[in-house]
Amino acid sequence: MRLNDKVAVVTGGTSDIGRAIALRFAREGANLVIGYHNYSPKVSLIVKEIENLERKVITVKVDISQLSNAEQMIRDTVNVFGRIDILVNNAAASWARAPIFDITEQELDKVIGVNLKGYFQLHCNDSSRDDKTKTRQNNQHKCQSLLIQPFQAKPPM
Ligand SMILES: NC(=O)c1ccc[n+]([C@@H]2O[C@H](COP(=O)([O-])OP(=O)(O)OC[C@H]3O[C@@H](n4cnc5c(N)ncnc54)[C@H](OP(=O)(O)O)[C@@H]3O)[C@@H](O)[C@H]2O)c1
Repeated sequence: MRLNDKVAVVTGGTSDIGRAIALRFAREGANLVIGYHNYSPKVSLIVKEIENLERKVITVKVDISQLSNAEQMIRDTVNVFGRIDILVNNAAASWARAPIFDITEQELDKVIGVNLKGYFQLHCNDSSRDDKTKTRQNNQHKCQSLLIQPFQAKPPM
């Protein structure tokens, strides 16, 4: 098992690609923090599946476009597992496929909030520490690997 006892955070980890990543990581021995945005039966299902693989798992409701939510997710993870080894910024938002001039400002803000701001917030913020300079250094130590998007991801060595 290549990820034995690593702590992996997967945003959008209850559905589709995020779910597949979470289950594969669990099979490789990782413990999981699953971020979800909207509660559905998928949340308890993935918990059950990961526990069946004899891995530890917690779920965190998070809107990654909101700084306070992103910070809370990091804090919950560190409180339970003590560290983050792998962060999979999988969650994403998109607009309905429409001509560009039909996209509303609200939709644009949402996509930028989730796909850009959300990734930055999760990687760079750790409100469990007071000193922001230290925070960044510590976070880099805690996150040995930043996986920005599943299709750009390289497995941590
Ligand atoms: N599918 C493809 O063909 C494809 C191609 C290229 C790249 N990708 C990338 O691969 C990743 C996963 O794709 P996918 O098709 O599996 O996505 P998806 O099925 O649309 O799922 C998106 C996930 O993001 C979560 N999410 C949305 N807004 C959120 C927010 N504000 N805060 C936290 N979580 C939020 C959703 O959570 P809830 O379900 O709880 O709302 C959902 O689990 C994305 O980064 C996408 O850009 C996908």
